[in-house]
Amino acid sequence: MKKSFLLEVYKKEGPLFTRGRGSFLWDEKGNKYLDLFPGWGVSILGHSHPRIVKVICNQAKKLIHLPNNLKHRYQELLAEELVKRSYKAKVFFANSGTEAVETAIKFSRLYGKGERFEIITMKNSFHGRTFASLSATGQKKYKLSFRPLLPKFQEAEFNDFKSLKKNFNKKTVGVIIELIQGEGGINVAEKDYIKDLYSFCKENDLLLIVDEIQTGMGRTGKLFCYQHYGIKPDIMLLSKGLGAGFPISAVLIREDIAGIMKPGLHASTFGGNPLATRIALEVLKVIEEENILLNVKKMSNYLFKKLFNFKEKFKVIRNIEGMGLMVGIKLRKEAYPFFLSALRRRLIINATHKNVLRIMPALNVKKEEIDLGLKILEEVFKEGC
Ligand SMILES: Cc1ncc(COP(=O)(O)O)c(C=O)c1O
Repeated sequence: MKKSFLLEVYKKEGPLFTRGRGSFLWDEKGNKYLDLFPGWGVSILGHSHPRIVKVICNQAKKLIHLPNNLKHRYQELLAEELVKRSYKAKVFFANSGTEAVETAIKFSRLYGKGERFEIITMKNSFHGRTFASLSATGQKKYKLSFRPLLPKFQEAEFNDFKSLKKNFNKKTVGVIIELIQGEGGINVAEKDYIKDLYSFCKENDLLLIVDEIQTGMGRTGKLFCYQHYGIKPDIMLLSKGLGAGFPISAVLIREDIAGIMKPGLHASTFGGNPLATRIALEVLKVIEEENILLNVKKMSNYLFKKLFNFKEKFKVIRNIEGMGLMVGIKLRKEAYPFFLSALRRRLIINATHKNVLRIMPALNVKKEEIDLGLKILEEVFKEGC
């Protein structure tokens, strides 16, 4: 094997990929793979969507980057379009999910004025790999080697209101939550729990930070997952699908409290550059003009129905969980060998949290593509691992 010059933080599998289009990838030998987990939940419009390619080429020729002390059109426009579709907020742009989380945590510190600084987070949550977001992450395996971490995060049980209250004290300033835990193995928040949590945050002036980095941008059948729950976040975090493959993240902070973040307190060199923001504007347009949310609902119903049939058929499947096109197949066995078996058959899915297979296809995935994926998955389960 040829020596790799890469830091070995990723377990890389499969061939060398050279090209992608829609829900398919091709390797250097021309073999075609069905990708039902494009870009780790990022490539929501499939690979190299023609409108995204066009807008990248067009904007790259005009202006790629501009520092944040100068103005360009697209940053303001994107902020306005996001706010129009969510709630009254001020928007900060960065480049990755973890930076969005860091921004929310820094904002919480400002909001607490040095008197309140504790944040309640959830067991099995995932919020990123930099120090504050790692500290907020409720999974030991990611954190143990990096202690001491940032203090003042309290871990509550997910979907357990009593546990939330138990972790609350007069120093608590906020709660950070994924409404569907992604890396934690596809766990969906219950509606009643979120209702109680929301009222509790309001009663105690706690910032409700909703991490929609994986659930946002249509993944669950609504543009933002919180819209299923009849709540409004104080802070919403977006990334992954926002640029449909191009790095960008956004933090939406409730307008009436956002003013405490003053010039000089926070910044990002690349955040909200003309190229990234113009791409995200196009992503929003494509979602609407191509009726993507409707497709998510239709394909979700179809996929869940078929997977529940699989559950009846294959003992190894313990349960099917998720919402929209964020789907977890919970197994009674380790999931990674099933992922490898699918990959050998040229189907790309994901294994997470030890025994969960995760499917997060492009939101414009076609029924034939789902059928092909299910056919391969059936072979995988028949053969067993
Ligand atoms: C819910 C959630 N928050 C935060 C992150 C971190 O995002 P990034 O890897 O872009 O820093 C992720 C990444 O998977 C995520 O799923």
